[in-house]
Amino acid sequence: MKLTVVGGGSTYTPELIDGFARLRDTLPMEELVLMDPATDRLELIGALARRIFARQGHTGTITTTTDLDTAVDGADAVLLQLRVGGQAAREQDETWPLDCGCVGQETTGAGGLAKALRTVPVVLDIADRVRRTNPTAWIIDFTNPVGIVTRALLKEGHKAVGLCNVAIGFQRKFAALLGVTPADVHLDHVGLNHLTWETGVRLGGPEGENVLPKLLTDHGDTIAADLHLPRTLLDRLAVVPSYYLRYYYAHDEVVRELRTKPSRAAEVAAMERQLLELYADPALDEKPELLSKRGGAYYSEAAVDLAAALLSGAGSPHQVVNTYNNGTLPFLPDDAVIEVQAAIGPTGPAPLSVPALDPLYAGLMANVTAYEDLALDAALRGGRDRVFRALLAHPLVGQYAYADTLTDQLIAHNQEHLAWA
Ligand code: G6P
Ligand code: MN
Repeated sequence: MKLTVVGGGSTYTPELIDGFARLRDTLPMEELVLMDPATDRLELIGALARRIFARQGHTGTITTTTDLDTAVDGADAVLLQLRVGGQAAREQDETWPLDCGCVGQETTGAGGLAKALRTVPVVLDIADRVRRTNPTAWIIDFTNPVGIVTRALLKEGHKAVGLCNVAIGFQRKFAALLGVTPADVHLDHVGLNHLTWETGVRLGGPEGENVLPKLLTDHGDTIAADLHLPRTLLDRLAVVPSYYLRYYYAHDEVVRELRTKPSRAAEVAAMERQLLELYADPALDEKPELLSKRGGAYYSEAAVDLAAALLSGAGSPHQVVNTYNNGTLPFLPDDAVIEVQAAIGPTGPAPLSVPALDPLYAGLMANVTAYEDLALDAALRGGRDRVFRALLAHPLVGQYAYADTLTDQLIAHNQEHLAWA
């Protein structure tokens, strides 16, 4: 089996390598290609990746290249984990929306739209080249905003699945609280990428007993503290929202916080400098502890599980992925991309059925789906008015005056990345 990682020079890559090494029985891989245009980082990370494999006795080869065609030739799956414009562009996304009193975040709100506009054309170009060289390869997209990027890929007919680590994070957390193994925890996970709720927590599989009420009774304080939301809110909802819902449920509070502390991009950039120094040490042959401070915890496990299920029918039978709705949630269009549990096999994901949803969640999902539709239109066709329409549709923007100002800011801050601007 051959796998290619586009954006292999990312500081996240050792997390992935560690997962490939530990889980080699689930995903037996002979060759791993790290592709990245940034040669310095690529060589540094490639060397560390080889040391991690050697330490853990993985016999697969790891190669590095800056050439996409070489990288994907013969690959069974291609993982996309790139960031157009790097942390510098993210810093912008997290900053200028605050001037309008709107949340500054890399995937939610106006910043997320900016990231979508920068990213969709680049990812589609990569996917076209993958298809030309290797039409059978699966594309696994971890590049944000995953919902919009996956929708773009599927719309263009690519063999793509979107991946996020929010669900696997909850699965691990709940398993620890319940004192069971993660594989025993099945989440009733529903929503759009970064707009999800755990509406049930079942033991043993989709038909298992729902222990969410007990989990909330016994561990509600811990879960609420992790989410920075009040326990009373969790009790009233009786579901567990992802931490991205805090940008909605506590919007103004978050904006106040964001205005008084350094951006996440600045924190991450500082961490990346330290990480790269650590990676340069030839004695280092495991992922450093510092990497666990990044948001991508368990990303490698989710990626290995998904690749295994797609490529060899191994891995967990049900996994949370981003894929076409196709009637799963009847209040959304078929071509909306939703994030739900799906049966995964060599033909791709087939979403499990979802019971009727409380309008409290369905309404917000429908609203954000409409935004994503307009965001994709703006990303594909460009133009000030399309950006404005997407922002006006976003529940965290909504007002025309803000949408106008944010449109101007978005375009001004992303000139070099927007071909049409
Ligand atoms: C989580 C999300 C990812 C996001 C990451 C940010 O893992 O699921 O979509 O990219 O957090 O982490 P960072 O350490 O860059 O803030
Ligand atoms: Mn994510």
